[in-house]
Amino acid sequence: MERDKMNVLDLFSGCGGFSQGFIDAGFNVLLGVDHDQAALKTYKYNHKESDVLEADLSQESIIEEIENKVKSNPIDVVIGGPPCQGFSLTGSRDINDTRNSLYLAVVRAVKRFQPKAFVIENVQGIATLYNGTVKQRIINTFEDMGYNVSVTDKPLLAADYGVPQMRKRMFFIGVKKGYGTFEFPKPTHTPENYVTSEQAIGDLPSRVEELGEEIDSYSSVPLSPYQEVFRGTTDVLHNHVASKHTDKVKWVISQVPEGGNHKDLPQGVGESRKFNEAWTRYHSKKPSKTIDTGHRNHFHYKYNRVPTVRENARLQSFKDDFVFKGTRTQQNRQVGNAVPPLLSFNLASALKDHLEGVAAFKTPPKDSVVN
Ligand SMILES: C[S@@+](CC[C@H](N)C(=O)[O-])C[C@H]1O[C@@H](n2cnc3c(N)ncnc32)[C@H](O)[C@@H]1O
Repeated sequence: MERDKMNVLDLFSGCGGFSQGFIDAGFNVLLGVDHDQAALKTYKYNHKESDVLEADLSQESIIEEIENKVKSNPIDVVIGGPPCQGFSLTGSRDINDTRNSLYLAVVRAVKRFQPKAFVIENVQGIATLYNGTVKQRIINTFEDMGYNVSVTDKPLLAADYGVPQMRKRMFFIGVKKGYGTFEFPKPTHTPENYVTSEQAIGDLPSRVEELGEEIDSYSSVPLSPYQEVFRGTTDVLHNHVASKHTDKVKWVISQVPEGGNHKDLPQGVGESRKFNEAWTRYHSKKPSKTIDTGHRNHFHYKYNRVPTVRENARLQSFKDDFVFKGTRTQQNRQVGNAVPPLLSFNLASALKDHLEGVAAFKTPPKDSVVN
């Protein structure tokens, strides 16, 4: 039977940012696997066509459960963002001791399902971890399994692909030998036309006081092309609840200029937090800093509060119709952990073009056969 879409398995799926980009690019995501129940609730709510599996991917036997879930469907692409702790090579810090490396869950899935391609996302530090040994080990492992692995010299910058955020991440993209070598897509944006924080979230109501209400309405029309697109298909605003800060915290934040941080505070103010990212205020005319999992060190460029879940989701390129489930702490974790869907979409589209391009040569159309 001809299939019109390629199937994807998403390991360490979280709430499904990585999956979302693949779905938008025209893939069929069969299954998302994670051990975080709240993240999977969000995943299922937003990806109604996909199944989910709550499982600990450090367990080798989980591959059987995955197989039961996907049944006899072929897996064309395995994607996965194993958490970076997975590379900490626990115990002796011996580079050869990879028993606890969570990325091995991706290795096992690729071995079992023999996909045409795989995509692994990780933090930028993976490139230099153990002097690059971990990066090379990942490449060698998959090359030995019959894949041509492409990695960029430098991490990809999300802002280069239209995401209003300076997030840097490494991607390993392998295609099965016989399917050529994947080339990373060229950036769609340059620093001159990066999408700014204001262009991303400037239309969202201030919510300076906590209302405790999860659903809200827009108070203005979209004010930028980005907002126009990223409102998605919803008329109500979800996950846009402001955090309450003490008067003292608000007073400290009020003294940080746009784009500034603790170094811009007068002496004696905000002394409790002095590390790199402390008291960082976004700049309205620049992309945001990397959205974290809710550390409460980053502040709105205009309001004296941390961004809401919805504002961070916008800065991560989630559309407003993507609703986050769980407590606010869990929602922030899901948003901060995610691969920006727009960055994922750019990679997924290029991978789809690549695989389809090769497939077209492998199976010539019937009417091109000359008798
Ligand atoms: C960086 S996040 C992945 C985000 C996801 N790719 C996205 O785009 O939304 C890593 C995920 O790994 C999950 N995780 C960590 N250890 C795990 C384990 N042992 N088994 C299954 N999932 C695990 C976490 O719950 C988290 O959702």
